[in-house]
Amino acid sequence: MLYLVRAPPEDNTHEIIYNTPTVTGEKIGEEKNMIRRIIRRGTLVIGAVILLTLVLSCAPSTMRSVVDSRGFLFGVAVRPGDLLDPKDSKLLKDNFNILVAENIMKLQYLRPTATFWNWSDVDSLVRFAEENRMKLRGHTFVWHNQNPPFINNLSDKEAALKVLTETITEVLTRYKGKFYEYDVCNEVIDDNGILRNSIWMRTIGPEYIDIAFKTARQADPSVKLILNDYNNEYAGTVKGDAFYNLVKGMVDRGVPIDGVGFQLHMLAELPVNKEALQANIKRFRDLGLTVSFTEVDVRIKLPVTPEKEAAQQAVYEDLLRIAREENISCFVLWGYTDAYSWIPGTFAGYGSAHPFDQNKQPKKLYGSLRKILEK
Ligand code: G3I
Repeated sequence: MLYLVRAPPEDNTHEIIYNTPTVTGEKIGEEKNMIRRIIRRGTLVIGAVILLTLVLSCAPSTMRSVVDSRGFLFGVAVRPGDLLDPKDSKLLKDNFNILVAENIMKLQYLRPTATFWNWSDVDSLVRFAEENRMKLRGHTFVWHNQNPPFINNLSDKEAALKVLTETITEVLTRYKGKFYEYDVCNEVIDDNGILRNSIWMRTIGPEYIDIAFKTARQADPSVKLILNDYNNEYAGTVKGDAFYNLVKGMVDRGVPIDGVGFQLHMLAELPVNKEALQANIKRFRDLGLTVSFTEVDVRIKLPVTPEKEAAQQAVYEDLLRIAREENISCFVLWGYTDAYSWIPGTFAGYGSAHPFDQNKQPKKLYGSLRKILEK
């Protein structure tokens, strides 16, 4: 302990200032040490940040970062379990920026009875998409398939109209602003190119399509309203032209349709007719509509051979190249893995239709798609 004794200039009394020696010596030393420690810690933090930046810039980019950076919407149909399984959900997050429910938004599941709405799976899907900054396609309101008994048993026009408008309004009000696109009607034309003999056609008549679109627009003005179908992708075919004429009629009548969906469930053995596909895209564009590739898969007649896989790859590549060249609205796969594929259950003797195999490992096909997306 050191006492500093100072005599104030105009005072004879002595003022004693108590002080500790550190102020003069040790304390200053401690402060210096502290400053050194802070500098050392700061240097470490800066170093760590630089290292992390380097590591991240060297880490391989994901398909997701590729499609995001190209502003391209690349997606897939999912089942509720895909979002819950950690490996499956990581695969989704790493690859896709738009999702669609493979089944749970079909009325059989979403509205199994007139009074019960099964929202929970859809709520989870919407939450998952929001948490992972993904867009959503809605699929589907008006279809001849996967309807609940109370819809299949409708026989009266007024009752059918009530169910149709009520369903669309209820769903789009609940999820207003949440969906990028919605398949308002699905597969309304049959394989002969005429309006399908569905429950909606039988009870309401052909105007059910216009009514569905108008109801959807009223409920959610922001969602893109889509008419979706299969075998409608080529200009110059019976179904392709019938689909076009139906849509043109809707546009001429001022029905609020924003775009069309080509499902594109393809066969490896049938090469893409690029001219007919591009001509079709062009004529819908000329109507002021967008085109989406909504359910892409390419099935192989089993057993798989390298030749068949090469043919499959060519089909996928042609579709993806055209999608990018034409800047279509979105490119959505109908399933990512052979493990959960709908194909074997519907087309006996066919399979291996998706970019990931039974073990959810990427096939050679996956790499070739990625190359096209990287361009
Ligand atoms: O939910 C039942 C389950 O309870 C039961 O144990 C199981 C036994 O088979 O069947 C389950 O239902 C199946 C359902 O998929 C859910 O997995 C149906 O049998 C099966 O027929 C149904 O198939 C769906 C098909 O639409 C129905 O038409 C496919 O998963 C689905 O991929 C497919 O998707 C359609 C699009 O919506 C429209 N475009 C064509 C596309 C492919 O067919």
